[in-house]
Amino acid sequence: ATKKLLLLPGDGIGPEAMAEVAKLIDMMNTELGAGFETEEGLVGGSAYDAHGQAISDADMAKALAADAVLFGAVGGPKWDGIPYEVRPEAGLLRLRKEMELFANLRPAICYPALAASSSLKQEVVEGLDILIIRELTGGVYFGEPKEIIDLGNGQKRGIDTQVYDTFEIERISGVAFELARTRRNKVCSMEKRNVMKSGVLWNEVVTATHKERYSDVELTHMLADAGGMQLVRWPKQFDVIVTDNLFGDMLSDVAAMLTGSLGMLPSASLGAPDPKTGSRKALYEPVHGSAPDIAGQGIANPIAMIASFAMCLRYSFNMVEEADRLEKAISAVLDEGCRTRDVMSEGMTELGTGAMGDAIVEKFRSL
Ligand code: NAI
Ligand code: MG
Repeated sequence: ATKKLLLLPGDGIGPEAMAEVAKLIDMMNTELGAGFETEEGLVGGSAYDAHGQAISDADMAKALAADAVLFGAVGGPKWDGIPYEVRPEAGLLRLRKEMELFANLRPAICYPALAASSSLKQEVVEGLDILIIRELTGGVYFGEPKEIIDLGNGQKRGIDTQVYDTFEIERISGVAFELARTRRNKVCSMEKRNVMKSGVLWNEVVTATHKERYSDVELTHMLADAGGMQLVRWPKQFDVIVTDNLFGDMLSDVAAMLTGSLGMLPSASLGAPDPKTGSRKALYEPVHGSAPDIAGQGIANPIAMIASFAMCLRYSFNMVEEADRLEKAISAVLDEGCRTRDVMSEGMTELGTGAMGDAIVEKFRSL
């Protein structure tokens, strides 16, 4: 079966990082007969420059038709002044919305070679491998009412509304339990049921979903603030963490800092499985942005983008062996002392974006 990939490199370092994934795709096609069919599209500022929209309808249609979308990064000072509706981020938001990507997967992995340079103690992060699953399409970022009202007495009131329905909690916890089964079989659900009604419902629905369909998985619950503390104190106690949009945004950024540079962090956003084929819409992207401060210099770290492609192999194409091998290749080149500038330290070998990509392709081939 062919595997349709849409590449949306975007702006800034997005295209530089995506070029390294393109090398891997070519190599897997020619040497492993992987059968990837790739198309390219424009997103973000580059799409705006070409046709005045952060993503065109034609590219949006390609995204909906693809088996998976690889997304680089968008934005930059060049587009700071353009209208809100067509700002670069609008391209990503449209993709998430129209592809109905409700599950955001943010792994926090600490590569052994980088454990010593973490901001935390080496024993706390060494060997860390956790997966935070954030609900991405509901909660307080989208709930209505959402407004600022003028109270008339020189006071205004800002209102956001946290809303979750049963089906939203069921489907995100289903993703968490299913992925836990492919890992260490543990899920910790985080909410604030002590002060939030949506938290009470979240806890109830996760518990019921577990009881009905996933009782083989170990389930624990934690208040989200305590969870934040535990993430920093002893993150290795977790396997999969499932939480709402707001808490997930914050907790995944906290977890990111456990592991070192922004240039290392991948993510995936998944939709619901198609009832006929079982396949999910999915978009894979590095956590970092377009890094305008280093764009065009050939020094960006391509690992976040490459690790995002590894997630694509794992979650969209069930190429588990290849995904494992690619992640091992990343770890191995780091073990050998290869570093881009953002993670450079004494005694290591500094490589540019292209040379780092080549080293990973070479290692992937030889493992
Ligand atoms: P950023 O992630 O682009 O950069 C933050 C810092 O990390 C910079 O010093 C940058 O050089 C460094 N960095 C990031 N990725 C790196 C990599 N792969 N290799 C080496 N160093 C790396 O975040 P910032 O500066 O807040 O935003 C820059 C632009 O990116 C803005 O226009 C922002 O809106 C956009 N952005 C886009 C995102 C997306 O496309 N998903 C996410 C975050 C920001
Ligand atoms: Mg964030």
